[in-house]
Amino acid sequence: MSEIKSLFEPQSICVIGASDKKNKIGYKIMENIKSGGYLGKVYPINPNLEEILGYKVYKNISDINEIDEIDIAVIAVPEPLVLNALKTCPSKKIKYVLVITSGFSEIGKNKEEKDLVDFAHQHNIRILGPNIFGHFVNKSNINASFASSNIPKGNVALISQSGALGSALIGETGEENIGLSAIVPLGNKCDIDESDLIEYLQNDDSTKVILIYMEGVKNGEKLIPLLKETTMKKPVIIIKSGRSKKGAQAAASHTGSLSGSDEIFQSIMNQTGVHRPENVVQALQWAKFLANTPMPKGENTLIITNGGGVGVMAADACEKYGVQLYDNYRSLEEAFAPYVPEFGSVKNPIDVTGSVGIEGYEKCIEAAVKHPDIHAILCLGCEHALFQEEALKSTIEKVHNLYGHIKPIQYVFYGGKSVKSAARYLKSKGIPMYFDVYDAISCLGELFRTYRHQQIRHTFESDDSVGIEINYPAISDILRGVQNDHRQFLLANESRGLMEAAGISMPKSFVAKTVDEAIHYFKKIGTTVVMKIVSKDIVHKSDAGGVRLNIENEQELMNAWEVIMLNARKYSPQAVIRGIEICEQINLDTEAIIGGRRDSNYGPMLMFGSGGIYVEILKDVAFRSNTFSKAEIHNMLKETKLYPLLLGVRGMGPKDIDSIIDVILRVALILKHFKQISDIEINPLVIYEKNSGVKAVDARILIK
Ligand code: COA
Repeated sequence: MSEIKSLFEPQSICVIGASDKKNKIGYKIMENIKSGGYLGKVYPINPNLEEILGYKVYKNISDINEIDEIDIAVIAVPEPLVLNALKTCPSKKIKYVLVITSGFSEIGKNKEEKDLVDFAHQHNIRILGPNIFGHFVNKSNINASFASSNIPKGNVALISQSGALGSALIGETGEENIGLSAIVPLGNKCDIDESDLIEYLQNDDSTKVILIYMEGVKNGEKLIPLLKETTMKKPVIIIKSGRSKKGAQAAASHTGSLSGSDEIFQSIMNQTGVHRPENVVQALQWAKFLANTPMPKGENTLIITNGGGVGVMAADACEKYGVQLYDNYRSLEEAFAPYVPEFGSVKNPIDVTGSVGIEGYEKCIEAAVKHPDIHAILCLGCEHALFQEEALKSTIEKVHNLYGHIKPIQYVFYGGKSVKSAARYLKSKGIPMYFDVYDAISCLGELFRTYRHQQIRHTFESDDSVGIEINYPAISDILRGVQNDHRQFLLANESRGLMEAAGISMPKSFVAKTVDEAIHYFKKIGTTVVMKIVSKDIVHKSDAGGVRLNIENEQELMNAWEVIMLNARKYSPQAVIRGIEICEQINLDTEAIIGGRRDSNYGPMLMFGSGGIYVEILKDVAFRSNTFSKAEIHNMLKETKLYPLLLGVRGMGPKDIDSIIDVILRVALILKHFKQISDIEINPLVIYEKNSGVKAVDARILIK
């Protein structure tokens, strides 16, 4: 398949369905190619025309004699003609085809779309679309689209699955003063998907931020490693709609039914370090800030304000968005006391008070930029008599030009007409000026998220499974037995055997046929046991008086044996009794669920959350794409509401988190080695105090 570079940096392009009629899409595309200043070769194709906008027109691609190979063909003819138009492309070894035409799978014409893909792949052609408005790449001066001719140029690349939203975003970015490095719509995504585009954009120097709108993920397994790689180089922001639970409905396990597509998607965003905004406005604010702000060298933020109220509001917002305030008070005093009146404050927020004009901020910003332990600066101001519109504009512009490239600096000014007018002017100059602290700090929080992710990502890639012993041959034997039996699930004793071979501790349990055997097993278990009647004829064991708890010594065991046998015979005289199960009694403590699942889209996934019988009501779970990193697994644990309980609350000591992570690593290894396993679910996993281990009380295993 052709290198994706040709799509972004084509040397030549032909437009099949080019037109000279101004109301036609085939004309608009030609006009945009021309006005965009594209310097490569342009070949309009139309059987009835001689010339369009000064370009010579060809009746057919094969008539173009001056060239043997063309990088891109744009097809803008009605749907019934598209396949034939595509069939002319191999004559000039076209690498990429942009199918503008609508009327394919989006209206149910799946076969027509598949025919395009089949033909294209037979001829080494890749298809973008169909159902797209064309694409724009700033550095190649190419606007092969019928979108706006006036696309703001800059460093944000936009990938959009929705044409209409993509087109609207071009307008929105213009309004917000965000420049674009590329716009590539995906349309019906019949061939090229976001992964193909990210592969190019991650190494494109002219793109600082990748902004994606997506409705669905087609090949999640391919996307995950790519996103991990890309976010180490530049921020990726994904707006994703469709938070529906579809796909989870037919699931055969808790893990399946809890893994509604959006929960998995959100966990993957967390794991890969992608930014996921709530809405388009937030997405654009983040994109603009992340694309134009230097990366901080640490996480200490300083707030400079002239009003206590906004300072407190900002401190609240910092807490909400995970922004850390610098709190070395001695150092703050030393650095800022000279610029703050006696009745002000040199604690963070620095309060310069209303007695200081905008010039007072200048000194503080300068001191903060020089301070080695302050990494980001937030300037807040409330309008007062000393604030002059012109001074506000010129001072902030000057200060920002001097220092804005050294450390992240943001500005929020509240006030009336003149403050708003100054703020709008500064915003138009690309200065990070906001009308509310929450907007500013939400952007700053995302910047620190990227910083943090890039600092510690490597720890999430480590392989901590080395040295973990698992009896793989024993597991293979069990699975072979299940497959020979044509079953898709493991019986209780098989699941127990698999857990044992995997080194995951389950309560010990044996079936005794005689009281002597029972005593032998009791000694072997070595702790309090439960006794249960074993008979296929007695389903409701408790009703039959066939269960005894808290057996702590041999005498109690012998008494219980007699009582259970007596009760069982009385309850069902005909029942065939196999014996009595002697089972280690589990003291219930904190209960978790651990899942391992082969997702049809995202591949092997791990799950952790609150367990027990209420899992589906609590819905307190987090996911990870299969990983062998303890740090990454620990992060998954932290995403659940159960986590604070694991740390210890209300006088209870901390729980054995290391043992939970160990069990999850073992599940991850089983998923990796045994591709035939589709689901592993341990529920409940009882978690004891730190260093006291965990017990898998029940395990369900499904195979394909
Ligand atoms: N090779 C080259 N040119 C051909 C051709 C061929 N095999 N067959 C026809 N043409 C020419 C036509 O003669 C016409 O040129 P003309 O204006 O000089 O007569 C031109 O191609 C376009 O064909 P036409 O039949 O006029 O179609 P159209 O312009 O009305 O519509 C589409 C074509 C692709 C725009 C339309 O089918 C469509 O899909 N529109 C929706 C596009 C869209 O919204 N995409 C998604 C955006 S998010």
